[in-house]
Amino acid sequence: MAIRQVVKIGEEVLRKKSRPVDVLNRRILTLLDDMAETMYAEDGVGLAAPQVGVLRRAITVDVGDENGLFQLVNPQIVSMEGEQESLEGCLSVPGRHGVVPRPKRVTVQALNRAGRPVQIEAEGLLAVALCHEIDHLDGILYIDKQIREVEEEELLRGKEAEPT
Ligand code: NI
Repeated sequence: MAIRQVVKIGEEVLRKKSRPVDVLNRRILTLLDDMAETMYAEDGVGLAAPQVGVLRRAITVDVGDENGLFQLVNPQIVSMEGEQESLEGCLSVPGRHGVVPRPKRVTVQALNRAGRPVQIEAEGLLAVALCHEIDHLDGILYIDKQIREVEEEELLRGKEAEPT
């Protein structure tokens, strides 16, 4: 496994549509493992292949809950329900955060690392992370959807206000 360079906003690859994965070959498995390692190294909760410069429909997500790590190819949102406003950032958009309207619950179908079909019923942060990463596969960044940007100072104030 290896940590890969995360592509930053301004690079054209982030705005392109990724191609589906037809075969889970060694190259794709290595990509999935490198993406997981890169995501953890960068303290992210999700990463999409275009963020490491590869236009294939592959994502990794780990929001730190009991589900652990998802390594998914060809993920699709097959249903969504409700609404939530999430505070998002992106490893490709460093130093910025914004409030984004997202569904509250989503059902995602995909293939896992073993090539088996999986269906994920997600809500809260996991739903947000899956939506955010799947958007990357279509060249969409959270800043395209945000209803407002949140400044760093506001974030820090928010943290101070939280009970400890
Ligand atoms: Ni992102």
